[in-house]
Amino acid sequence: MAETTPDQEAPLLEVRDVAVHFGGVKAVDGISMKLWPGRIYGVLGPNGSGKSTLLGAMTRLTPMTRGAFVFEGQDYTKKHARTIQHMGIARTFQTVRLLEDRTVRDNILLGTDSLGRETRKEAAARVDEVMERLGIQEVERMRPDELSYGMQRRVEFARAIISRPRLLLLDEPTAGMNTSEREEISAIMRQLLEEGVTQFIVEHDVQMMVDTCDYLYAMNFGKLIAEGTPTDVVRDPAVQEAYLGKGAGKHA
Ligand SMILES: Nc1ncnc2c1ncn2[C@@H]1O[C@H](COP(=O)(O)OP(=O)(O)OP(=O)(O)O)[C@@H](O)[C@H]1O
Ligand SMILES: [Mg+2]
Repeated sequence: MAETTPDQEAPLLEVRDVAVHFGGVKAVDGISMKLWPGRIYGVLGPNGSGKSTLLGAMTRLTPMTRGAFVFEGQDYTKKHARTIQHMGIARTFQTVRLLEDRTVRDNILLGTDSLGRETRKEAAARVDEVMERLGIQEVERMRPDELSYGMQRRVEFARAIISRPRLLLLDEPTAGMNTSEREEISAIMRQLLEEGVTQFIVEHDVQMMVDTCDYLYAMNFGKLIAEGTPTDVVRDPAVQEAYLGKGAGKHA
């Protein structure tokens, strides 16, 4: 990937004029994006600006009003969420979603469910490596409610990456974490990037986004209000007005 410029490659994901309306609420209202491989993308925006809804639409868990998604040249707009996982897109959720009556190891293995038989076996064989990388191997037999919030987040991360996605969508991966936990998650993201996992992150922590992302988008009222390099986006007057000026640093 290093030898070609973005203009010469095909986008990994193309988002074409996507809208998600809930009755009169235009949660996402005409978003277009091109995500190129080998980058970490971030989305900033105030509470209720449509970030999670966009992620829901991208993974086809949320019904769309209009628009299309094309991943590696394939239009998946009408496909099911499981198929999309199989295609190479994984996600984590804004709130922890783990099965409370299953062990950490079993929860991670759930991330292989959508895969075909052979790839599933290969993925399952990676469970120890993935747990080690995320520093959760010592708690593999514990259940989620016995773990700290930060550790539960790591388990979700592990579940998302075990299928070796080419695109990883993260909805507030460090919310509720302390500074050192945030830095660790940020380091894991950079490491995943080196392994070829393009990432698309929704976060409120502006500093972390500036430090971690290669390219930023800013949303307000379901629309994009800015995009570009992280420093340019956070300095953009529309972004300052919508987000940074009032309630900067506030969390959902
Ligand atoms: N299932 C739904 N039904 C109706 N309205 C919804 C639904 N999901 C989201 N909304 C509305 O759509 C808008 C966007 O919500 P969304 O959760 O996408 O925002 P967000 O940017 O992720 O906010 P936050 O930063 O608080 O997580 C909000 O007005 C929300 O109330
Ligand atoms: Mg959200």
